[in-house]
Amino acid sequence: MRFIKLIIFLVVFQLNAQQGGMWIPSLLEGMNETEMRSLGSKLSASDIYDVNNSSLKDAIGHFNGGCTSEVISEKGLLLTNHHCGYSQIQSHSSLEKDYIKNGFWAKSFEEEIPNEGLFVEFIVRIEDVTEVMLKRVTDDMSPREKQSQIDKNRNAFEKTIEKEDWQGFKISPFYKGNQYFLFITERFEDIRLVGAPPVSIGKFGSDTDNWVWPRHTGDFSLFRIYADKNNRPAKYSEDNRPYTPKHYLPISLDGIEEGDFTMVFGFPGRTNEYLPAVAIEQITQKVNPLNITIREAALKVIDANMKEDDLVRIQYASKQARIANSWKKWIGENLGIEKSGAVTIKKDFEAEFLKALHNQGKTAEYGNILPQLENLYSEIEDINLKRNSFSQVFLVTNELMRMMVRLTQMEMASEKGETAFEKARDRTINQIRSIHKNYSVKVDKGVYKNVMPLFTDNIDASIYETTAFVDLERSLAVLNGEMREVVTKLNNDPAYIYAKPFVLDFYQNVDPEFKRLNTEINALQTQYMKALMEVMPNQRYFPDANRTLRVTYGKVNGYSPRDAVYYKPVTYLDGVIEKYVPGDYEFDVPEKLRQLYENKDYGDYADKNGKLPICFLGTNHTTGGNSGSPAIDAEGNLVGLNFDRVWEGTMSDIYYDPEICRNIMVDLRYVLFIIDKYAGADHLIKEMKLVHPKK
Ligand code: ARG
Ligand code: GLU
Repeated sequence: MRFIKLIIFLVVFQLNAQQGGMWIPSLLEGMNETEMRSLGSKLSASDIYDVNNSSLKDAIGHFNGGCTSEVISEKGLLLTNHHCGYSQIQSHSSLEKDYIKNGFWAKSFEEEIPNEGLFVEFIVRIEDVTEVMLKRVTDDMSPREKQSQIDKNRNAFEKTIEKEDWQGFKISPFYKGNQYFLFITERFEDIRLVGAPPVSIGKFGSDTDNWVWPRHTGDFSLFRIYADKNNRPAKYSEDNRPYTPKHYLPISLDGIEEGDFTMVFGFPGRTNEYLPAVAIEQITQKVNPLNITIREAALKVIDANMKEDDLVRIQYASKQARIANSWKKWIGENLGIEKSGAVTIKKDFEAEFLKALHNQGKTAEYGNILPQLENLYSEIEDINLKRNSFSQVFLVTNELMRMMVRLTQMEMASEKGETAFEKARDRTINQIRSIHKNYSVKVDKGVYKNVMPLFTDNIDASIYETTAFVDLERSLAVLNGEMREVVTKLNNDPAYIYAKPFVLDFYQNVDPEFKRLNTEINALQTQYMKALMEVMPNQRYFPDANRTLRVTYGKVNGYSPRDAVYYKPVTYLDGVIEKYVPGDYEFDVPEKLRQLYENKDYGDYADKNGKLPICFLGTNHTTGGNSGSPAIDAEGNLVGLNFDRVWEGTMSDIYYDPEICRNIMVDLRYVLFIIDKYAGADHLIKEMKLVHPKK
């Protein structure tokens, strides 16, 4: 009997240990530490996060606010994904110096290229500030009153935060606003490009393979952090020197095998794991299909033009990737939600919640939450869709309309007076300049013709012949002069005349109405989260991703996407060659790489069977923003670089199913092989600390 109990305990424990979750690094002691150990980790909570001693967290940087990166040498060498550094790589590329196509490798510090605006931020310490932030906030307050009390608390608290002059801070809500944490940060602003493989390696497989396993992409690029003479954050200066980090990750040459522990440390962006079933239905049945359709319409034009014209290929490389990425993700998300039966599972869960309320005599207190959420979600549906279609057309896909949005905001600012206008004008000029750096009227007009009919019946492509804003100099001429004059000129521009009513409708009607309802929904979600944790305390609750530092852990593991099919967790260079299509824009393979394959010239980077590993899968619960995150082995060494999830599991932002949700990592041995054998940049390898933990 005891034996059976033990087995049950172990089975349940093992399953539980793979249920996903993105955890707060300062709170790993206890449950997480135990789970990680049961998965094979030899790390203690304080190896991962420590305030007084250097720890793993000191090597993890938030890359430009969107991706993750990690320090891998004592000279501030920084590793992230190719797709995270893509817009920097693109910005230094031209037809003559095509770093996208050919790759880039700095041979010395002097050749490393500065990147205006790019920054990397580290976390110095994390503190629970729930008590101060929620002081005098009570349940009988309206959402508005609550928010205003929280704002008051925040303002008072911010003045008392202890930190050094060069440090910054951030306060973020967790568990839907039931907890608050303070992050003391250090932001480095002199970040230089060190190396990038050609796109045929860094983005091998492109859109066809994106979000898909089996995968063979060397999705990495290298940067370096520069600091001032005191090793502190500083703006770009020739006098800056390579940053000496508090910690950098050693790299394991022994790699991974199926079943090995891995942990992913990074800055996941946004998840929504505690939505009611109605919300999931709205996302998958209404919002995703709409957004997919609009992006698909834009991609048709962009893709065709990129294939036809080399200049357009460079200009639109980064934009196209951004549009295509979510487009494909949403398709996978819908399939996964459908296949996993997430809506039914949520509904059952909600029934259980109601039962628990009843059993604990809390129906009066919390019984209204779900019915109210249901009402609100049906109320918000129309406006939510309008808001989405505006945003996909006017902010994401069509560039002329994006300029019109800013210009309308500028005119709105002019009503507040000169100062507001000047500020808005500066911002507008910056935006228009940055759009025109990589702009093709032909492409944009094509996009307009394809996407605008999905937003309105009022179509007039002739605005492209007559507006000033398809040309940078003419745009700047309209914006030149004193306020009234500029506003008058603007209101004579055909594109502006066309777009302004749409933009005004959005800012005056659609957006405020959406926000009103959304505030109510958020307030209920806060209560729902609180109620769940109170009446069903034995579930695993991890806070939704919110662009703060998190730890997720699991194992190297394959999966079964459908009946009779099992995907192994590791791919090899042999698979790159299998996929090779000469001259293809997605599956071409550089000659040098084919030669290295022919000669099996793998150096120290092959596995014990003499094969060169490319990518591997794990059960780590990741999301957008985890791109570039290190996959760390049981002893704290770098073994992989996270860059994607599998198609069947992209719904993990809403519903994590341990059976099929997998993250995809590049094997660090492939990264080293490319740097060393392919690019001949062995001076970079010498900077790193290579280890053999398994020997
Ligand atoms: N899907 C990955 C992510 O969400 C990789 C995107 C870059 N790759 C690409 N082929 N667009 O960001
Ligand atoms: N590629 C994603 C990113 O840019 C990470 C993959 C994911 O969403 O899991 O952050």
